[in-house]
Amino acid sequence: MPAIVLVGAQWGDEGKGKATDLLGSRVDAVVKFNGGNNAGHTIVVDGEKYALHLLPSGILTAGCTPVIGNGVVIDLGVLFDEIDGLDARGVDTSRLVVSGSAHVITPYNRTLDKVTERFLGNSKIGTTGRGIGPTYADKMARIGIRVQDLFDAEVLRAKVVGALNLKNQVLVKIYNRKAFDVDAVVAELAGYAERLRPYVADTALLLDRLLTDGRTVVLEAGQATLLDVDHGTYPFVTSSNATAGGACTGSGIPPTRISRVVAVVKAYTTRVGEGPFPTELLDVKGEQLREAGAEFGTTTGRPRRCGWFDAPIARYAARINGVTDFVLTKLDVLTGMDEVPVCVAYEIDGERVDEVPTNQAEFARAVPIYETFPGWTEDISKARTLDDLPRNARDYVAALEKMITAPISVIGVGPGRDETVVVRDLLD
Ligand code: GDP
Ligand code: IMO
Ligand code: MG
Repeated sequence: MPAIVLVGAQWGDEGKGKATDLLGSRVDAVVKFNGGNNAGHTIVVDGEKYALHLLPSGILTAGCTPVIGNGVVIDLGVLFDEIDGLDARGVDTSRLVVSGSAHVITPYNRTLDKVTERFLGNSKIGTTGRGIGPTYADKMARIGIRVQDLFDAEVLRAKVVGALNLKNQVLVKIYNRKAFDVDAVVAELAGYAERLRPYVADTALLLDRLLTDGRTVVLEAGQATLLDVDHGTYPFVTSSNATAGGACTGSGIPPTRISRVVAVVKAYTTRVGEGPFPTELLDVKGEQLREAGAEFGTTTGRPRRCGWFDAPIARYAARINGVTDFVLTKLDVLTGMDEVPVCVAYEIDGERVDEVPTNQAEFARAVPIYETFPGWTEDISKARTLDDLPRNARDYVAALEKMITAPISVIGVGPGRDETVVVRDLLD
């Protein structure tokens, strides 16, 4: 089986971690190809909860090789804390492989993320404050520090000096903060080198060999389509390509190797941070979704903004990513609602618009046009086939499937690994 890409269809936290974990032991490698510890994936195995940030979800599956690709930005302190945390719980982390071309999140970029947000005031993005944006900015400006640089003391020092020449001026003169000391930054980063060394490899070559060998590789996105720096709700996005295209550049696997693109989509919508959100519910219904869905960030603990399902967004995700299968998650959270509205199109300046507009000012003015479906009260967490679902839930799923232009192959009915309805095997 060639490579499979798994992306988020909305604004993140769709349940990508659980979806990857579901593919389980039949997957030989899981690659994280974008983002960093802004991601938070909660996976529940046999009642045990695991929160992953930098490690790919495949880490929980025995025999699967977890890979951190070149497109990722790594906070090394967080990486080793996460490894230590899993080791202490008896999870084998020794198979982890890290690209030497991935970029490293430096202490000054963590600071810059926070102070820029403060400086933006009301125009802030609402970032996770982990240094993600400034680190990708350095990558593009060609002043980034890469994993491979940690193994050459001279190169590392020269790069830190080069970056701080400019950044210290900005920190001191614009933001009124203390300058970073070159020696301290070099010592902190170099301090991780020896522990990191055994994990580092040419990950693009490794993945090419696995695929040539007929192995199954899953490319797992952090964030999601509407947080993609090119295709999302810019500037309220993350700083990487979270869509299927990013899977190629962020891993070194070419498009011709990819056979399937799976998008994970929630049965309603959530968003963390600032930015437009047409179906957002600011009333008691939104509160109800937040409570029922435990919609609080895995990474920052912030309450997630909640709203109804937005079909144009899922259709947009299908188009931008070339989705072959949807995984519809958290259907169980809608249980008990009298009725379930779905946004089928928008009204913008008095006109009906069926597709997500690329103009952000228009998207910010979009008013949802709803079609309403009858709810259900039966507990669906024990459902394992479509026939186990109550009629109204089945009708809801069928209606969504029609609107979003790709089949719903898996349905989540609870957070547990087994709380799933499989309509079609994603690895067939
Ligand atoms: P990710 O960032 O896309 O991996 O998603 P998160 O882990 O941040 O958020 C998804 C949350 O929903 C996690 O707490 C999961 O355990 C939970 N979850 C995933 N699928 C389902 C489901 O079908 N039903 C319910 N109730 N919870 C789910
Ligand atoms: P997973 O992988 C939800 C959001 C932040 C902010 C914006 C930019 O768990 O789905 P950043 O720190 O990336 O510069 O913040 O993106 N954001 C996420 N929202 N899930 C995520 O990841 C997110 N990663 C970043 O809240 O609005
Ligand atoms: Mg998450």
